[in-house]
Amino acid sequence: MSLKIEPLSWWHIAKAHKIDQQVFNATAWSLNTFWDELSLQNRYYLALTDEKGEIVGFGGAAFNGADADIQTMVIKPEYQNKGFGGKLLDALLEKIKEKNANRISLEVVAENQPAIALYKSRKFDQIAKRSNYYPNGNDAVVMQLDLRSK
Ligand SMILES: CC(C)(COP(=O)(O)OP(=O)(O)OC[C@H]1O[C@@H](n2cnc3c(N)ncnc32)[C@H](O)[C@@H]1OP(=O)(O)O)[C@@H](O)C(=O)NCCC(=O)NCCS
Repeated sequence: MSLKIEPLSWWHIAKAHKIDQQVFNATAWSLNTFWDELSLQNRYYLALTDEKGEIVGFGGAAFNGADADIQTMVIKPEYQNKGFGGKLLDALLEKIKEKNANRISLEVVAENQPAIALYKSRKFDQIAKRSNYYPNGNDAVVMQLDLRSK
């Protein structure tokens, strides 16, 4: 299976929104959130696309000076656990380094073992836990990668 990684564009949004709903159900982003995120200057999003150019995953970051925050990272269920999330994250990390950020943070649901394993495999450390962080009451784990010390 040969997939491509390219900047996320407006024409990916409708399908990206569907994948997000499929994966996150009630906590998925609204269509408006996708449009807002894509319009902000300090954001950078990547899309993973199949042979037909259809989006099968996406992820992105927000930049604030030397700090970057991973906003989301999603792979369509039938493409999960095949190495694509790792490839997408590696491409995003390259972009973050190019933009001279030196610290990358993210929050992830404390129960989300696949995502925590993915970030740990890329040398993120678990630095804090936030109780009741999400609207549905789930706890969050805060993870961080300090590029200066790796
Ligand atoms: C989290 C997610 C993006 C990972 O993408 P993926 O394509 O399934 O992951 P990969 O196959 O590239 O695996 C990456 C690493 O994560 C680990 N991993 C992946 N799935 C796993 C699972 N089910 N259980 C444990 N570890 C897992 C692997 O150890 C792998 O490490 P390696 O690269 O050293 O082999 C994907 O599962 C997903 O979209 N999940 C739903 C949305 C989500 O939770 N997003 C993250 C919120 S921030």
